[in-house]
Amino acid sequence: MDAFSLTNKTILITGASSGIGRSCSVECSNSGANLILVGRNEEELMKTASLLNPGTKVEIIAEDITHSERLEAIIAEKVAVLGKVSGFIHCAGIEKTLPLKKHSVQLYHDIFEINVIAGFEMAKILSLKKYKEETSSFVFISSVAGMVGEAGKAAYSASKGAVIAGTRSLAMELSRGNIRVNSISPAMVNTPILEKMFEDLGEDASSEIIKKHPLGIGEPKDVANACIFLLSDAARWVTGSNLVIDGGYSAQ
Ligand SMILES: NC(=O)c1ccc[n+]([C@@H]2O[C@H](COP(=O)([O-])OP(=O)(O)OC[C@H]3O[C@@H](n4cnc5c(N)ncnc54)[C@H](OP(=O)(O)O)[C@@H]3O)[C@@H](O)[C@H]2O)c1
Repeated sequence: MDAFSLTNKTILITGASSGIGRSCSVECSNSGANLILVGRNEEELMKTASLLNPGTKVEIIAEDITHSERLEAIIAEKVAVLGKVSGFIHCAGIEKTLPLKKHSVQLYHDIFEINVIAGFEMAKILSLKKYKEETSSFVFISSVAGMVGEAGKAAYSASKGAVIAGTRSLAMELSRGNIRVNSISPAMVNTPILEKMFEDLGEDASSEIIKKHPLGIGEPKDVANACIFLLSDAARWVTGSNLVIDGGYSAQ
C-alpha cells in the first residue's frame, strides 16, 4: 500500500470553494479520499465538487463557520453518510493589508474569528470519538506572515502566528487520541486572496514582494501536495510541526 495514499479516508476541508482549499480538495480526491467540502458560497463549492475524481464521495456544508450554531449537528449528519473523519484541513481564511492606523478592533476580531477560532472550534468537534476515525490528522494553513514580519499585516500576522502556536499545543493535547496536528506556512500563492492583496498594494509594492521569492510565486497545488503528505500515513511520526512551503522566501 502506498504510504502517501488517502484511500478509505474521509477528509473535511474548510475554504474548499476557492484557491488553496479548492486545490487541496482536487488533490485529496485524486489521492483516493472522500470529502466534506466547507465554505459559504454553495455555487463555488459545487464547482469544486465538479472538479473531483468521479469516484469520490462528496458532501457539502455551505455555512459561515464563524457564526454557525448548527455546525456539530451538520457534521454528525455528514459522518452518518460518509463515515468517520480521518483528516481535516483548515484553509478558510481572510487577509487584510492595511497600515496600523487603519487597523480597528473589529478588524482584529474578524480576522481571528475565521483564521484561528473557527479552525480550532472545528478541531474540537472533529476530535470527539463519535466523529473521528481511530487515527486522524489535522492541518492548519498558516502563513510565512506568522513567522516573518511584513508591513501592514499586524492583525493577519498575529492570527497566523496564533495558528502556529495553537497547533503545537493541540498536537500535545490530541496525541492521546491518536490525532496528529501540524500547520503549513506558505508564502505568496497565486489565488484570489493574492489578487486582492496586490490590488490593495499597487503595482510597485507588489512586484517588490514577488522579487522576494527566490523560486517565484507558488501555485495552490504546491500547498495541496504538502497537505497530502501530512494527512497520509507517510507522516505518521510528524506532529506539532510547521511545514514551510515558500519558494525560499523565509530562508533569506
Ligand atoms: N494565497 C496566498 O498567497 C496565501 C499565502 C499564505 C497563506 N494563505 C492562507 O491560505 C488560506 C487560503 O487562502 P486562499 O489564497 O486560497 O484564499 P481564497 O481563495 O480567498 O479562499 C478563502 C476561502 O476561505 C473561505 N472562507 C472565508 N471566510 C469564511 C467563513 N466565514 N466561513 C466559511 N468559509 C470562509 C472562503 O469561502 P467562501 O467565500 O465560500 O465563504 C474561501 O473558500 C487562508 O488561510 C490564507 O490566509 C494564503
